[in-house]
Amino acid sequence: MLSIVYASSAVRLFTRSELVDLLEVSHTANNTHGITGMLLYRGGNFIQVIEGENEEVLQLYENIKADPRHKDVTLLTQDPITTRQFPDWSMGFRNLDKMTEEELAGYSDFLDNDFSPAFFKDKPTRAYILLLSFKDSMTD
Ligand SMILES: Cc1cc2nc3c(=O)[nH]c(=O)nc-3n(C[C@H](O)[C@H](O)[C@H](O)COP(=O)(O)O)c2cc1C
Repeated sequence: MLSIVYASSAVRLFTRSELVDLLEVSHTANNTHGITGMLLYRGGNFIQVIEGENEEVLQLYENIKADPRHKDVTLLTQDPITTRQFPDWSMGFRNLDKMTEEELAGYSDFLDNDFSPAFFKDKPTRAYILLLSFKDSMTD
């Protein structure tokens, strides 16, 4: 299996319903293709981890790169895996813009920055740790 983490920037800010649409389509497609992972959104930027069988992950990443709704799609990590880190989530999601200061406090070390692809490009491990840290707060 393969795990890919990338960062990107929305071409324009997503509305709540656009995010919901994206998540609905992703959940259905990911269930079909055995993809699991986590998507974080903050201030118009995304970071996402996708994991599953090699061909499925690579194909999805190609689709995602070609998606006109975002730009600067930046590969952060691409690693072979034997165990899924997000087995329970066809795509976990958190909109960090909707979290309170209090809720975000525990993650502050990672959030004192602009969340841009350029920032995470030099710190790919940070992106992965951040994605993992939200796993515990997910109920899906
Ligand atoms: C930030 C972001 C994350 C996405 N995540 C997924 C995902 O996890 N699974 C998925 O099937 N599509 C995801 N998409 C949508 C794909 O880019 C694409 O629209 C989808 O795979 C449908 O492709 P198709 O119309 O060629 O079938 C995402 C798009 C964006 C902008």
